Amino acid sequence: MTNSSVLEFLSSRRSSKVTGLCEPAPSPEEIEKILEIGMRVPDHGKYCPWYFIVFEGEARKEAGELLRQAYQAENPEAAKAKLDLEAENFLRAPLVIAVVSRIREGKHSQWEQILSAGAACYNLCLAANSMGYGSNWLTQWYSYSDMFKKLMGLDKRDHFAGFIYIGAKSETNEERPRPLASDIVTYWSKLAPSLNKGDTYGMVGHGFPVAGAQFIEEQ
Ligand SMILES: Cc1cc2nc3c(=O)[nH]c(=O)nc-3n(C[C@H](O)[C@H](O)[C@H](O)COP(=O)(O)O)c2cc1C
Repeated sequence: MTNSSVLEFLSSRRSSKVTGLCEPAPSPEEIEKILEIGMRVPDHGKYCPWYFIVFEGEARKEAGELLRQAYQAENPEAAKAKLDLEAENFLRAPLVIAVVSRIREGKHSQWEQILSAGAACYNLCLAANSMGYGSNWLTQWYSYSDMFKKLMGLDKRDHFAGFIYIGAKSETNEERPRPLASDIVTYWSKLAPSLNKGDTYGMVGHGFPVAGAQFIEEQ
């Protein structure tokens, strides 16, 4: 079975700027569906190596107070205006879903479990987009804040994979530069084994470091 509307959807999808999201939030039934689709991702070993935290309505404000506390503890010099701004992060969209990567015991690698959490983030975006809502996958400082993680009840096995901001769209999403297949795709053959690693894309100025980039664990 082919589905040209799905192909068209995937070919044109784009994140919304978080400033381009507004009320209304998806309905409770839609949220349930978005979460269900978020769980429907490849998961080697069926570990369920992720869980979701939904922030909606007043809860966004209450969680914002935890953001304030964490920011203040980690930036004791911060002015009140800056703390107020940080406390409003979750108010930027009517619905925010955090995806937490939770490492499970088992023979399958942590790397694969983390990849599955990334897939969950993307599926949440796709589900919301397919209902006509905009979305944006952000991490920002609070994903890496030990204090915020502690205040939220995460433990050592837990990492925020992202916060998915969802809402109605108040503006059209503009396209952004993308790599070309010739930058990053290699149709491998033993006669021409060199790989297109995307470094040409970086060199034309779209932004990622060509030299000096290292795998995260080597930094
Ligand atoms: C794991 C991850 C974390 C991100 N965190 C941020 C962030 O903190 N701030 C930001 O401005 N963009 C962040 N982004 C980028 C936005 O999601 C951006 O909207 C997206 O890359 C646009 O892609 P698209 O045009 O294909 O939708 C992040 C993306 C990913 C995959």
